[in-house]
Amino acid sequence: MSRRGLLTGGAAAVGGALVGAASATAVTASSTDPQPAADPAPADYGSQTVPFHGARQAGIDTPPQAFASFLGLTLKPGTDRKALGRMLRLLTDDVARLTQGRPALGDTEADLALTPARLTVTFGFGPGLYTAAGLPPAVTTLPKFGIDRLEPRWTGGDLLLQICADDPTTVAHAQRMLIKDARPFGAIRWVQRGFRRGRGVEADGATHRNLMGQLDGTVNPKPDNPAVWNGNATTMVLRRIRMEIETWDKLSRTDKELVTGRRLDSGAPLTGKHEHDEPDFTAVDPTGLPVMPDFSHVTRAHVSDERMRILRRPYSYDGEPDAEGVPDSGLIFAAFQADVVTQFLPIQQRLAEQDLMNQWITPIGSAVFAIPPGCGEGGWIGDQLLA
Ligand code: HEM
Repeated sequence: MSRRGLLTGGAAAVGGALVGAASATAVTASSTDPQPAADPAPADYGSQTVPFHGARQAGIDTPPQAFASFLGLTLKPGTDRKALGRMLRLLTDDVARLTQGRPALGDTEADLALTPARLTVTFGFGPGLYTAAGLPPAVTTLPKFGIDRLEPRWTGGDLLLQICADDPTTVAHAQRMLIKDARPFGAIRWVQRGFRRGRGVEADGATHRNLMGQLDGTVNPKPDNPAVWNGNATTMVLRRIRMEIETWDKLSRTDKELVTGRRLDSGAPLTGKHEHDEPDFTAVDPTGLPVMPDFSHVTRAHVSDERMRILRRPYSYDGEPDAEGVPDSGLIFAAFQADVVTQFLPIQQRLAEQDLMNQWITPIGSAVFAIPPGCGEGGWIGDQLLA
């Protein structure tokens, strides 16, 4: 009797007669089975740190950590320029410590701070923060797109804290400390938790695979690309995009690839073999139709001028399914670019007009933030704007 037969109930059918023989079978079978590889030495990911002080904030060029929490706050009435300065000094001090594996001042669970796991916290200023400070806003909200079904509970926000680390406990602890210190100045508007593959389960630098099964992040500017930075500042567009997984699952693999413009397994463009092959938008099939369909996401999103590209740093979310088991899954789409209007907006407009993928994705949240420069020791995030 095969081992498979035993596992699928064959043993029960033959009855107790084989009980004595079963252990012998097991011994023989296991000696021919591949043995699990010995565990590799544990990687020391927990103790790794990303520098906090610097001309630019971390969490943008930083290779994406496995877990993220995006925290959007609404400033309380009375949080004026002076109060903002007090809040940002406090939060900067917390972040300077926590990211380096040291407890925040007054940390009620200091032991949780000792595993930084590449923790970064990136501050973003929404239009409302500038108004509260009596300054002209450096960013404006996006226009409404026909595809949008925005819900207030995921939209807007005066202050953003993007908390990322390779460990979810580290993220939770940092979030708890930061909320404590931000509470007198602002109320929580939304918290969006996201994840990518756990660190170590794939090679570092492997492209993120989203919950539609696509490799997502192939064409992305390299760190330090001028498309991303305006001096040492940048901007962030955060869109919460629900995936209509139930109907996406009904498509054939070929249709999914046509919608995307790339293969699901390798991420190669439909005109290529490998993930990083350049798509050929002029190629036609024997019937004369473009191999990269005009309606595919990649065709619509493609930007040939490198200086106009956006840096995508998305995370998946996977909430509670409803009572019928319909998933609540999607993408927390975070894009960084020197300028929202000239870089992000035209791409989003092209996608809103005619991207077949719109049938399986729905934007339900939207926010825009200016990302101020970093700070040196003794400085604080926002000091150049508010001091
Ligand atoms: C749930 C929503 C989305 C999903 C699942 C998704 C998925 C993908 C995938 C699979 C690719 C191809 C691989 C790659 O280069 O990364 C891609 C490319 C791209 N996407 Fe999206 N995307 C989404 C939303 C957006 C949005 C909102 C924008 C911007 C407004 C955007 C802009 C881009 C750009 C610029 C590219 C690279 C195109 C190129 O030059 O080849 N995507 N996306």
